[in-house]
Amino acid sequence: MSTDLFQNPPDDPFFEAVAADDPNDAYAILRDLREHDPVHPVPGLGFWLVTRHADVKRLFNDPENVTNDRRAYEHYVPRGEEGSLVRWAENNGLFAMAPRDHARVRRLVSVAFRPRAVRRMDSQIRDVVEQYAAPLRGRSGETLDLMNDFTNPIPNAVISRITGVPPGGDEVRFRELAQRAIRGFFTFTSDEVKTDSEAAFTELATWVREMAKERRDAPREDLISDLIRAQDDDERLQDDEIITLITGLISAGSETTALGGLVAIRALLEHTEAAERMRADRTLIPNAINEILRWGFGGPGGLPRYAIRDFELRGQKIRKGQMLMLSFGGASRDPRVWPDPDRFDIERDCRELTVFGGGPHYCMGANLARSEMGAMVDSALDILPPGSRPRDDLMTFEPAGFFKRPTNLPIEVA
Ligand code: HEM
Repeated sequence: MSTDLFQNPPDDPFFEAVAADDPNDAYAILRDLREHDPVHPVPGLGFWLVTRHADVKRLFNDPENVTNDRRAYEHYVPRGEEGSLVRWAENNGLFAMAPRDHARVRRLVSVAFRPRAVRRMDSQIRDVVEQYAAPLRGRSGETLDLMNDFTNPIPNAVISRITGVPPGGDEVRFRELAQRAIRGFFTFTSDEVKTDSEAAFTELATWVREMAKERRDAPREDLISDLIRAQDDDERLQDDEIITLITGLISAGSETTALGGLVAIRALLEHTEAAERMRADRTLIPNAINEILRWGFGGPGGLPRYAIRDFELRGQKIRKGQMLMLSFGGASRDPRVWPDPDRFDIERDCRELTVFGGGPHYCMGANLARSEMGAMVDSALDILPPGSRPRDDLMTFEPAGFFKRPTNLPIEVA
């Protein structure tokens, strides 16, 4: 992707929404597109932005017309060198598997998410969140960075703990590698980031392979051991599949959940009445998490699908090989599904939520992500007494493709 396009984006509502400083402006642009141009051709990048909930939901479940296998994209550029691990993972990952193999792997993985394992994960989540929350309590009058000291490290620490990486120095190293690896998997990234990501990915995969080897000889109470034990009709997961799965879980579950935590904290500070209700009654938190994700996750960003044949969508002619971007913010604020969609309502019925996708690739970590976010919100309510406020004047950002990625979350504690 040319850097020039990053710096001089074409004059188009999608780019305006991405560049908007105020999220409400971005949502207003998405509202307009949803009503008047729901399958919008984005110039320069050549993809279709899909903003209606019904279309987003349909495309998650439409294997006749679309896939999430990047290799079907007309501008597909393979990752990594021929014969490299990155190339191998791209050709064998969850998005590239034939439907039958994908269904088999998902069945095997679900075995590793049985109640005993989930209980173990819940206690690991509580431990990790407490480890990061403890130093942040009782800091009245100070300005804390809740992104770098709280929402960002937690999801990675949780995944590495669940996987079987011991706490301490290894965990930090694992987290750094995972964060570098993930950056290269975003839809639009610079070549520099991609190269660095590939090196990190290779190191990470080698690490996971060594752990898998150790666990075959001496199983423990962790996800790698569970995956090794998982068996279905005499079929076992191979080490290569375990590596794909673990690195897949790391890349799918870290940045997303960290962003979810950030959205959650901002939502608490912006909706003080809802925060006070949750503070008084913590049983409101699980449903509030769904509403937080509906209300604030993803904004103008979305999830790619690639057309595997020519088809028509709302009168637009989609050509084989083209990309469709399924807009998170478009679907999550569609008034056809969500009455008064801009209102934040922690008791809203969120069954139609699409931020975890849908159909065969529905997020495998949705419950884990909800638990993590629930634990983060529960702790954040104790870290931030009423009257705490975001210090937007101290916020900093870095470019991430077309998007601006916050690099801190400064909050003044009351
Ligand atoms: C707020 C946090 C999260 C969000 C919003 C999220 C969102 C999504 C979405 C939209 C998809 C579907 C991708 C597609 O269809 O192209 C997905 C897939 C996936 N997610 Fe998540 N995710 C989150 C957290 C997690 C966590 C914590 C894990 C695990 C540790 C995880 C593991 C996965 C995996 C493995 C897939 C691929 C499933 C497949 O292809 O069969 N996610 N996620």
